[in-house]
Amino acid sequence: MCGIVGYAGAKQAAPVLLDGLSKLEYRGYDSAGICVHGEMGLQIAKAKGRLQVLIDQTQNGSNMKGVVGIGHTRWATHGAPSDINSHPHLSDSGKIAVVHNGIIENETRLRGWLEGKGVHFHSETDTEVVANLVGYYYAKHADFLGAVRKAMSRIEGSYALGILCADQPDTIVAVKKDSPLIFGFGEGENYIASDVPAILKYTQTVAYLDDGEMVVFNAHDVAFYDQTGEPIEKKKEHISWELSAAERGGFDHFMLKEIYEQPKALRDTVSPRIRDGRVVLEGIDLSAEYLKGLRKIYLVACGSAYYVSVLAKYTIEKACRIPTEAVMASEFRYSDPVIDESNLVIIISQSGETADTLAALREAKRLGAKTLAIVNVVGSAIAKTADQTIYTWAGPEIAVATTKAFTTQLAVVYLLALQMGYALKTISEKDYADHVAALQRLPDAVSEVLSEENIQKIQYYASRYYGHHDAFYIGRNMDSAVCLEGSLKLKEVAYLHSEAYPAGELKHGPISLIEEGTLVVALATVKPLFDKMMANVREVRARGADVLCVTLKEMEQEARNQSNGIICVPTVLPMFQPSLTLIPLQIFAYYVALNRGCDVDKPRNLAKSVTVE
Ligand code: F6R
Repeated sequence: MCGIVGYAGAKQAAPVLLDGLSKLEYRGYDSAGICVHGEMGLQIAKAKGRLQVLIDQTQNGSNMKGVVGIGHTRWATHGAPSDINSHPHLSDSGKIAVVHNGIIENETRLRGWLEGKGVHFHSETDTEVVANLVGYYYAKHADFLGAVRKAMSRIEGSYALGILCADQPDTIVAVKKDSPLIFGFGEGENYIASDVPAILKYTQTVAYLDDGEMVVFNAHDVAFYDQTGEPIEKKKEHISWELSAAERGGFDHFMLKEIYEQPKALRDTVSPRIRDGRVVLEGIDLSAEYLKGLRKIYLVACGSAYYVSVLAKYTIEKACRIPTEAVMASEFRYSDPVIDESNLVIIISQSGETADTLAALREAKRLGAKTLAIVNVVGSAIAKTADQTIYTWAGPEIAVATTKAFTTQLAVVYLLALQMGYALKTISEKDYADHVAALQRLPDAVSEVLSEENIQKIQYYASRYYGHHDAFYIGRNMDSAVCLEGSLKLKEVAYLHSEAYPAGELKHGPISLIEEGTLVVALATVKPLFDKMMANVREVRARGADVLCVTLKEMEQEARNQSNGIICVPTVLPMFQPSLTLIPLQIFAYYVALNRGCDVDKPRNLAKSVTVE
């Protein structure tokens, strides 16, 4: 959570920083601030609220003069959102300004120690401790880098820090541990940022900093250091994302844009991994011999990525006949899991920096399991930590609610299941060939679901049901897992209370909540269980529920007779059906949210990268 950005160059820094922050707002959006080093020294502007407040306050940065600066967009952890608690934070001495993404765990002890030295604090944040710690050591030795190093040696927790010193007008120092930080190489200008979209407009050449590393730079020069303070060379990486990927284009919201990007994202993820009718996962070593020795596969993730894991359990067990379990990362790490080298632990994460997921990955490695990560953000902590990584090529996902990352994570699960099933011979040659061919056609099937006719139908249902107080998503087998994600989408973007249940479980308790006007979204795309689903639909309708049914085109007539509303999706092989069933649920949540006047891309209380436990 929180995004940081830094710039040193020839342009006025403030507008560049504000523009960068606008691309990082998904990381936190309760306040924002910038510090520019100009003729008047360190000049700070910060404000509670959305970035726009700061943009207005600074007249889009035009009233802050200077060509070097740092910026921050915040998701509050220590201290409520307020002007005072917003970053950048200045040391009591006024010499050091800091922006910070992460959490300082020994903040209370350090604050007490600094107060004992006569330092005064002005905010409730852990970040002010960093500013004052650097300030304290700088006051002693007038050595900026040395002061940052000394402060780092005393700080416990996670951080990406951008730091300015009043006495060194050209220079920015940045360090990181367990929070992402990239350096961007420009022509006569250089950048730091939490994530690529912030600087994509200016440069596509970056270096990813590793834990403990430091970068010191001005407009023309850059030096990297390892955690012992030794100078190091960093590999320059080229970012292939197009600039448009981080812009809204003609869409009202990133969420809608990303929903529509799903066919392309799927194609980009799947196509390069299928050659001559075979799944080829380059660099991934899952031999038949290794797979045969596996006792169990664990899939570990948070939120929507966890729901991909729930779907993956069905997919992998069916294709590979290996016992598979999906576990929430926040539970996994404290559950004393029975894990050793006979387990494969698959970690799923869009951002690659989710704190609980990263910790679970480290725990799985410590216990001796082989780890494989499915990640979207290249160079992220999870991607670097796992033994093997398969990237989803979804491009940057900016909306807080995930859509295309989910779809592509699921596509990688399909590729993995097919590859493993083929190696183990638990899937026949013919089935394998049929599935590989069908997977290549999946992006077209998703485009079909995104047809104008479907969208209009879903818009209509959203306008009919947005006023309901409660929604229940029910389904059987893989549909029950899709329900989890559909229901989460509605909760997070439309603030509508919603629950997901396997349909057969409803009558064991939750059905007591069904009454006149309850919305039930019934998924009925698992053909062998269609009749049973319709029986469940009748049960809830008999108790007054309004039923919106998502089913296969071929079942349309029968489902229509039982439901108040119906949305149809094309039939594909059962393994891939969830990828289609989910799309109408994403669109439904989006339009319900619009009808309810919600801020779709930046839902309240949420941020995209959850880097706190
Ligand atoms: C929901 C959503 C979250 C994330 C979860 C894990 O729309 O986006 O539930 O799926 O926070 O994030 P990553 O995948 O970045 O680890």
